[in-house]
Amino acid sequence: MEEVLNLKNKEPITINDVAKLAKVSKSTVSKVLNEQDGISQKTREKVLLTMKKLNYRPSMVAKSLKSRKTKAIGLMLPSITNPVFPIILKGVEDTASENGYIIVFCNSDEKIEKESLYFEVFKNRWVDGIIFSVVTGSKEEEEYIRAIHNKGTPVVLIDREIEGYFANVVMIDNKKSAFDATTHLLELNHRKIGCITGPLNIKIFAKRLQGYKKALAEYGIEFNEGLVKEGDLTVKGGSLAIKELLSGKELPTAIFACNDFMAIGAIKELQRNGLKVPDDVSVIGFDDIPLASLITPSLTTIAQPLYEMGVEAMNLLIRLMERKGASRRKIILDTQLVIRDSTSKPKM
Ligand code: RIB
Repeated sequence: MEEVLNLKNKEPITINDVAKLAKVSKSTVSKVLNEQDGISQKTREKVLLTMKKLNYRPSMVAKSLKSRKTKAIGLMLPSITNPVFPIILKGVEDTASENGYIIVFCNSDEKIEKESLYFEVFKNRWVDGIIFSVVTGSKEEEEYIRAIHNKGTPVVLIDREIEGYFANVVMIDNKKSAFDATTHLLELNHRKIGCITGPLNIKIFAKRLQGYKKALAEYGIEFNEGLVKEGDLTVKGGSLAIKELLSGKELPTAIFACNDFMAIGAIKELQRNGLKVPDDVSVIGFDDIPLASLITPSLTTIAQPLYEMGVEAMNLLIRLMERKGASRRKIILDTQLVIRDSTSKPKM
């Protein structure tokens, strides 16, 4: 006698229901679900047809338990208000979904304590891999990453590295890119060049300051501490740095800001003080966020391949999760100098 399944009871359809209606064993249905061999094409088609008829959706948890894979990726970035990171996120997310993965996104807000909270979640929750841009690159962060890596969960660092800890990382050459930005100003004949750095406890901003210093040295210009101000990566931070420079002995004829937000803040503060950019002071930024081409004057900057960074990091993580390719890779992507209207030769 044919068993009629009571589909009215609205209970989720299970693998048992499929097996009963298709008149096969549960293990046969499981083989179809996991695309395993050992069953005829005819049986496979019968089971698939039955799943369609019942509108059966395999439980993600059951799948995860079986395969010990969640197809979920943890992605932790230090901000959601700076456009740099949503662009990186998009590169990761587009590549993840093309490969059947979902993203569990966390924003550490440039705070170590928030970052460590999320790390505990990642350590105890199922994600198949993690992409992570550190807040500062501290020893504490290194310990977190080692703990996760030692549990067998691959980790790829993106944008910011942990110096001395050779993890898998996708980033740019920060020192060379800052050297290129400063050299652009030197080639315009600026000799009194200020620098608004990012927080110098973050390794990549210390590297950008080194690039600035290297370019000055190659032109025989002595480093002047008074022309360097440490910013906090925000528009307000750029403005505050200019206020300090304006109160100093002499105003530089050009400024290298280590991110576009601070460059924009610098331009606004100079204009508020009646100074013209670039006629009185040239300004160059770093990142090439969408806003850079829209402000007046449009911002000369160093373009980071932010979307591509996300794509490369996700592709590297997939190779690591699938145990393909080298277990330690450092991928350095190129940056481009984008010349717009905020830089020109100094007034004679
Ligand atoms: O603007 C934010 C900065 O922090 C960028 O330069 C990026 O490299 C990030 O680390």
